[in-house]
Amino acid sequence: MIVEVGLLGCGTVGSGVVELMNRRQGKIADMTGLRPAIKKILVRQVDKPRPVELAPGLVTNQPAEVLEDPSIRIVIETIGGIEPARTYILQAIASGKHVVTANKDLIAVHGAEILDAAERHGVDVFYEAAVGGAIPLIRPLTEQMTANEISDLLGIINGTTNYILTQMTETGADFADALAEAQRLGYAEADPSSDVDGLDAARKLAILASIAFHARVTLDDVQVAGIRSISAQDVRFAEELGCVVKLLATGSDRAGVLSLHVRPALVSKQHPLAHVSGPFNALFVRGDAAGDLMFFGRGAGSLPTASSVVGDVIEVLRVIRLGVSGRVSRMYLPGKRVSPLHAAPARHYLRL
Ligand code: NDP
Ligand code: HSE
Repeated sequence: MIVEVGLLGCGTVGSGVVELMNRRQGKIADMTGLRPAIKKILVRQVDKPRPVELAPGLVTNQPAEVLEDPSIRIVIETIGGIEPARTYILQAIASGKHVVTANKDLIAVHGAEILDAAERHGVDVFYEAAVGGAIPLIRPLTEQMTANEISDLLGIINGTTNYILTQMTETGADFADALAEAQRLGYAEADPSSDVDGLDAARKLAILASIAFHARVTLDDVQVAGIRSISAQDVRFAEELGCVVKLLATGSDRAGVLSLHVRPALVSKQHPLAHVSGPFNALFVRGDAAGDLMFFGRGAGSLPTASSVVGDVIEVLRVIRLGVSGRVSRMYLPGKRVSPLHAAPARHYLRL
């Protein structure tokens, strides 16, 4: 049986989704008994050249052709930003469509609203690609690790800044050139200042902390500093100290009091995070039963991100096949609060 899919956006991530869905259509049909078929793709500019071949008539600039088509059962959102993505997703949910999104800006700020709407309408919303590109983080934290009390999150969760810092350290590249290259490679956000100023990492930390600590955490709860002020001299001094500069995201839960920071930090070369380079991301998670876990992989880019998006689509197909929709991926616990500003210092130095 064919399941019609609507795709919102066909840029770096959306085009990767088209390519991977085409490549894996037969395998997905064998695995799930359902064959996903992209029926319409919403973009801004219909005539713009795309990195993937698209059948004539597939692309539209009319949202209704996706959102008001009752035959479309799954909507994949890869537009990014808050509006119109939020309105489109809520409209899709209200029409009984399952949603897969890569949009951390939206989930970090309006995640509760979207998941509540999904629960009311009995549909699923999956967002694995919103954090860590290809790395499975959302589902392991939402599902397999829930038997733990998670006390700490620590990692590198922005590929663009990690690419820039790696280039500055390893090749002596200048900040602006390294950023331009990260943009060319498709790692950076449409507005790269959200990468450089730490906001992208802060959004991802808010999403991870909401799930790991069972709390309603939003972007406003994270103290943020980016890498704009890091100079070639800082990178050289770090080297002399046996360290590298990394943009670290840290979250902790101490008896229900949460501290959340995104900061540049000196990381000792003996620490595994010092060796996470280029567009790679890594996240340590400390659970009381599991102990320390480390997740590592490509945190940005077209196909790595599409890997998570299409993985979510396959999960939705399983949901459709088994008839168990409406699983909402968050469980809040009472009594959690975010530490007042300045109460919990950020980590500026990390060693083993
Ligand atoms: P791009 O800017 O490359 O693509 C955005 C796409 O959305 C374009 O096709 C654009 O159309 C379309 N679009 C934008 N605004 C509208 C609108 N108002 N109506 C209709 N279509 C619109 O972004 P990315 O693919 O890089 O990112 C997409 C999402 O994925 C973002 O949420 C991002 O944060 C997230 N993400 C990105 C990763 C990456 O490595 N790039 C990794 C993980 C998540 P047109 O092409 O016509 O301009
Ligand atoms: N701009 C993001 C990054 C994309 O560089 O990590 C992946 O979320």
